[in-house]
Amino acid sequence: MPRAIISPSVLASDFGVLTAECKRMIKGGAEWLHMDVMDGHFVPNITMGAPILACVSKGVPGIFMDCHMMVSQPEKWVDDIADAGGKLYCFHIEATSDPISLINSIHERKMKAGVAISPDTPSTAITDEIGEAADMLLVMTVYPGRGGQKFLERCVPKVAELRARFPDKDIEVDGGVGPKTIDQCADAGSNVIVAGTAIFNATEPEQVIALLKQSVDT
Ligand code: DX5
Ligand code: ZN
Repeated sequence: MPRAIISPSVLASDFGVLTAECKRMIKGGAEWLHMDVMDGHFVPNITMGAPILACVSKGVPGIFMDCHMMVSQPEKWVDDIADAGGKLYCFHIEATSDPISLINSIHERKMKAGVAISPDTPSTAITDEIGEAADMLLVMTVYPGRGGQKFLERCVPKVAELRARFPDKDIEVDGGVGPKTIDQCADAGSNVIVAGTAIFNATEPEQVIALLKQSVDT
């Protein structure tokens, strides 16, 4: 299994001091920062877009922005997110009719390509061709749209199904993940762990980051 990567979701951070929050997480041991882009259409909420991400990449040199695109037209934002310094562009399979072309255009802009599946989407929506072309597969463990929701255990078998089919790919889990739910994700084969409230609401986030990482690595 690929190595453990912890990607705190800044959705749970204080957006008024977003760059400081990102630096605090990196200092606490985070390698990636999970940036939840919502367009008010694919999901009801609106969060942030490329202009804010550009400020973050300028303010936090070297940051790896793991951009989770909860948007209806993922084809539309590839250039803007690449220009803003995004390193990974993860789109929802439910939002596109031509995932392979989209993956190719993400790679043309030198970003890693991720493909996300929502709770009601089966793992078979990721065909062998899509899974091989992508760098990362994201199994949502809540319905996309907001932080702080309850972890949906019924999504975990999809992680195991994808790990069996794609042993070398990064497999990310996102939604309700924290110290109480990490073991089942890690056991199923997830190696990229997103956590928002579990990390940002902790008095010592670095301890939560270390614990999540250790759970994947052991
Ligand atoms: C939900 C987002 C998640 C969310 C996770 O739509 O994609 O990244 O911020 O937050 P927690 O860890 O609090 O469930
Ligand atoms: Zn997310």
